Amino acid sequence: MKQRFILLVLGMFALSTPTSYAAAGFATETSDEAPATEIKLFSYSSLQESASEIVAEFHEKGYIAVEGVPGFGDAYQQFLATARIFADLSKEEQAVCTGATYAARGWSRGVEVFNGKTDTYKGSYYAVVPDDSSNVWPDESLPQLRNAYQNVATIVLEAGKQILPLVGFTHENVKGLGRMLHYKSVSGSADDDNPNWCGDHRDHGVFTCLCPEAFYKDGEVVSRPANSGLYIEGRPVGIPLEDAISKNVVFFQMGEVIELMTKGEVRATNHLVKKATDGSERFALAVFVYPIDEVIINFGGSSAEIIDKYKDRLTEEKIVSGIVTFDAWNARSLAKYNPKELAPPTV
Ligand SMILES: [Fe+2]
Repeated sequence: MKQRFILLVLGMFALSTPTSYAAAGFATETSDEAPATEIKLFSYSSLQESASEIVAEFHEKGYIAVEGVPGFGDAYQQFLATARIFADLSKEEQAVCTGATYAARGWSRGVEVFNGKTDTYKGSYYAVVPDDSSNVWPDESLPQLRNAYQNVATIVLEAGKQILPLVGFTHENVKGLGRMLHYKSVSGSADDDNPNWCGDHRDHGVFTCLCPEAFYKDGEVVSRPANSGLYIEGRPVGIPLEDAISKNVVFFQMGEVIELMTKGEVRATNHLVKKATDGSERFALAVFVYPIDEVIINFGGSSAEIIDKYKDRLTEEKIVSGIVTFDAWNARSLAKYNPKELAPPTV
């Protein structure tokens, strides 16, 4: 049975002075780099009290950080250690973990295309959260990956589920789709004419829980190299990994589905990941919140600007009706970025 997302009017919360947040971010290190984006840091223990400010941030930027997420730092450290072992496995051992639909399960590298350029160095390991039989794991070569992945992904998904109702998203029947990301180090002689590890895009789903980026060089953790890593709308963003781990900091970001549902009131922000050119590699983990049942996205009455922004994945018929199912939207989005994938049929 089809259900509609229950989405309250996001502007219903009266704006008030935030009770507990601070600016998060790192200083940009070089004068030729854009100033860092300021991300507001909210306390996990007082999310309810900060609801109005959280709503305002999602309206304005589509992106917040939360500190004090229980158990996150330790679980993420364990995950990163295990992910690094996976990245060092042979291609044959990694290939065992490639799922039949590799945009949704298991391991792949260099398959996504953004704006006509393939993200050659980007590796992804997808798994549904909580774990189920559709996931693919390296049970022989790296059996500890399953638990390390599921533990941290569950922590950030549960935190995300605390935040969604604050912004009016009260659909409870959701799951996570985790995406471990490994961006391989780039040698100067192997230029593929793509300045990015991950091209400019907006997340196409509902909501993304994002673990802070981690850089390594010559086997050691290093600070973010200048002019690299996550950028939101042209500006770098993030906090030092050691701070993120010691303070249990997780980022949360709005997807295109909520921008459509709110007819543009909430922003899904453009972001990309710039390559490091100093030989560093980068790891991260995103967990996308997905509805379990079939749901309908109602974008009727949206402005011409919003329709134009999203018409690449909306048929004329759907634009006229003002509704599209999440499954249809998801399939068209996967087909947009994964032309080589055996994508689910678009409807
Ligand atoms: Fe993204």
